[in-house]
Amino acid sequence: MEGPYRDLGAGFARLTGVEGARRGPSRITHVEDALLELLRNARDAGAANIYVASTLRDRRYRTLTVIDDGNGIPESHRDLILEPGVTTRHLNPVTEPGDHSLPTHGAGLSLYQIKSLSLETSVLSTSSPTSIRAIFDTNTIPERTLQSTTRPSNSNLRATLEHFTETTNIHSPRLHTYYGTPARILATLLHYRIIQNQRESAGLREEAFALGLGVSMRSVQRILRGEVVPVEGISAGERSGGAGRRRVGGRVDGAPVLELGVEESERIADILRRAARSGYMEVADLRIESRPGEISLRARVYEPEEEYE
Ligand SMILES: Nc1ncnc2c1ncn2[C@@H]1O[C@H](COP(=O)(O)OP(=O)(O)OP(=O)(O)O)[C@@H](O)[C@H]1O
Ligand SMILES: [Mg+2]
Repeated sequence: MEGPYRDLGAGFARLTGVEGARRGPSRITHVEDALLELLRNARDAGAANIYVASTLRDRRYRTLTVIDDGNGIPESHRDLILEPGVTTRHLNPVTEPGDHSLPTHGAGLSLYQIKSLSLETSVLSTSSPTSIRAIFDTNTIPERTLQSTTRPSNSNLRATLEHFTETTNIHSPRLHTYYGTPARILATLLHYRIIQNQRESAGLREEAFALGLGVSMRSVQRILRGEVVPVEGISAGERSGGAGRRRVGGRVDGAPVLELGVEESERIADILRRAARSGYMEVADLRIESRPGEISLRARVYEPEEEYE
């Protein structure tokens, strides 16, 4: 008689027959579901830090690279974990913290499903740090759109990471997560010494590629010059679109008003745009208001997920 699983060594097993089906596949219908499963895997591997690099190409192809500093995967099992039923949770299925109504994990199916639904899924680095990258065609597996219209990107991925971080940290506040473009995630990995700084740009670029972070030579050089700001951790409590905005100054009646012509306003806008781009950001909805005794500039600053290198 065959048991419910077959031992694959190093703590891994392949669930056989009904046991895999009984634990049930967590249904992945959107890119966000795939991200959540990648995050759960990193958390369950004991990661204290998870870095998510995201890009959208041609408004269609989403690349997600999830990098974590957890226990890693034995080199010998690198490809096996993408096969159906392969798991280390055969004896101890994982229950979601804070929500015991959710199905337990440990069917060994998430990575297999992600691989089946994506154009490409690979384990790029098995440990120190671990990196798994998946590329999705959002025409085949869509993304949920944000309800809010205030952000230019309709992606809900950052919100997924925020929610995951929040619920994980309710019980033991130890998880730090980061979300950004490959260049900014690379700057963040260097900042926290998850990877060692190399003086030489070709070497750093190679290391970034090995982790699934596709960055241009120009970006690598900018990172080495310290011009790319690391992303702030989501666990630090800040949210995209942020609290803490304040209005500066008050109107001074009777004071002079500086009128700006179209050309001057355009030049100011241009300076802001260039400053933003050098930090991989964009500005939009710029409003320049000349009032007695003051000029007020107000613009929305955001990180585009569309690549433009
Ligand atoms: N980031 C990671 N770090 C270390 N091990 C990992 C990581 N991601 C996956 N694994 C290993 O790969 C196995 C397979 O992962 P997969 O998500 O496919 O299945 P599972 O987590 O066991 O169950 P479920 O189908 O409920 O997600 C895991 O059991 C785990 O041992
Ligand atoms: Mg899993």
